[in-house]
Amino acid sequence: MVERISDAASASRTVDLSKTLLSLTASIICKIAFGRNHLVEPERRIDVLRTSGEARAVLGSFCFEDHFGWVGSIVDKVTGLSSKLQGVFVELDSFYGVLIQDHLDKEKEEEDPEDFIDVLLRMSEDRSGSVHVSRDHVKAVLMNIFIGATDTSAATLVWAMTALKKNLGVMSKAQREVRSSVGNKGFVDEDDLLGLPYLKAVVKETLRLYPPAPLLVPRETTQRCILSGYEIRPTKTPVYINAQAIGRDGECWESAEEFWPERFLGSNVDFRGQSFELMPFGGGRRVCPGVGLAAVTLELALADLLYSFDWELAEGMEEEDDVDIEAMPGLTMHKKIPLCLRPKIKN
Ligand code: HEM
Repeated sequence: MVERISDAASASRTVDLSKTLLSLTASIICKIAFGRNHLVEPERRIDVLRTSGEARAVLGSFCFEDHFGWVGSIVDKVTGLSSKLQGVFVELDSFYGVLIQDHLDKEKEEEDPEDFIDVLLRMSEDRSGSVHVSRDHVKAVLMNIFIGATDTSAATLVWAMTALKKNLGVMSKAQREVRSSVGNKGFVDEDDLLGLPYLKAVVKETLRLYPPAPLLVPRETTQRCILSGYEIRPTKTPVYINAQAIGRDGECWESAEEFWPERFLGSNVDFRGQSFELMPFGGGRRVCPGVGLAAVTLELALADLLYSFDWELAEGMEEEDDVDIEAMPGLTMHKKIPLCLRPKIKN
């Protein structure tokens, strides 16, 4: 990422951060979960970024079948949602099929580290336990991870840069912290994160105001329950949790609409599912299992963007107020207009 942005900086070009950061997070997940970066060898694969974008769009659409059963399924056929869903998922299914076959075919050396697919395949070979992991289970987990991890992390980074560009005082405070803490080493690594409390607060503040999954993931009740005195009787009642409204609730947060990371300095409020006023990763047994990886990815990528570059407005933008904060509707909250900024290599 840094090389690509450096090239743009040398040529005084504008960078579309929405695109650059999506390909960064997709590459990270491909390397960690699938063993290598499949985005750099598109000739054998589907265009993963395009297809996952389409998957995101159909998943974010209103599905009548979910709410009105078989009658709804007819409406979904008429609106074309069913065939879009089918098309996208057939394509992604074949991508995961190729990844699995690659892992089955590869000659394994003793010292080769296992990636996520190796672990899932090893589990699927083990038939001694009570739960059998089938090939479809493996594909479903890969689907969850790829779509759940890349999009959300990229959207958070774009919102963080948007908020910083609109709040220049916060941007320069975070930049001063990163640059003085990391020094002249030339890059930021994981060990540096311990010395960056303000940057961590910036990430928390971004997740508070712009949780990338504003309604978390839709769930349904498994039994009758009572919530704030209301009885939710039929099982399988859909449940939506509005994490964005919770994050902006004036009863929990002082100056709730303000981007003010200082509120987290010296505070125990965290996003790992224990603080009910900050729930961007959900909570309980179905809390996002990727929260640890997400936190490190967000902090490292943001620290690198601030350490290596100064960021100027793109041509045609006069002042910080021109950076808009309008969001697109959908399962993941993306910025409606891509964030385009001009990087300058730091002196
Ligand atoms: C900023 C980044 C991320 C955000 C905001 C986020 C948010 C969420 C949320 C809200 C849920 C649903 C939790 C619930 O229903 O209570 C979820 C589930 C999930 N996330 Fe994440 N996530 C992020 C990154 C990641 C990463 C990096 C991974 C994988 C490496 C990941 C993998 C998953 C999976 C597999 C699930 C489904 C868990 C289940 O259904 O039990 N996520 N995530």
